[in-house]
Amino acid sequence: MERTLVILKPGTVQRGLIGEVTSRLEKKGLFLVGLKMQWLDDQILSEHYSHLKDKPFFGLLKKAMSSCPVVLMCWEGKDAVSVVRTLIGPTNGRLAPAGTIRGDYSMSTQENIIHASDSTENAEIEINRFFKKEELFDYQFKLIDSIYASDEK
Ligand code: PPS
Repeated sequence: MERTLVILKPGTVQRGLIGEVTSRLEKKGLFLVGLKMQWLDDQILSEHYSHLKDKPFFGLLKKAMSSCPVVLMCWEGKDAVSVVRTLIGPTNGRLAPAGTIRGDYSMSTQENIIHASDSTENAEIEINRFFKKEELFDYQFKLIDSIYASDEK
């Protein structure tokens, strides 16, 4: 089983889409192991988006991401990183296919509803960036046998 980091962006909070987006991840069969609301400051955003620091939109992106609290989540499942990336669709909401989260709810590359880790290496870094150890929960997933075959878990 793998874990991945998800951020529901400020636009998602403001538009009242937290429940709808979270429901998609739940219905897929992913397990929620961490959840909190947090106001991201410039320091953590500069770290999180350090790979984009030379992009012209870096400042705008950080400003948007700190405009109101976000929802931070950690989800667990087999191949959780790639499964969530497939569910959210490509970065630009206008180009994202219908049926993906961004395709269904976004018209923008910045206001694109959701961030999700893009590799298992980054997932580990991002989970540690946003969650303390005691904020992540190990518990029994009682419906696991309805979600996976016994040789898939
Ligand atoms: S992705 O899906 O995160 O891998 O996409 P990527 O192309 O690497 O984009 C990284 C983040 O930068 C944001 N972005 C932009 N913001 C503002 N303006 C423009 N033009 C723009 N292009 C990309 C995009 O929303 C991604 O944010 P995260 O939080 O990583 O999804």
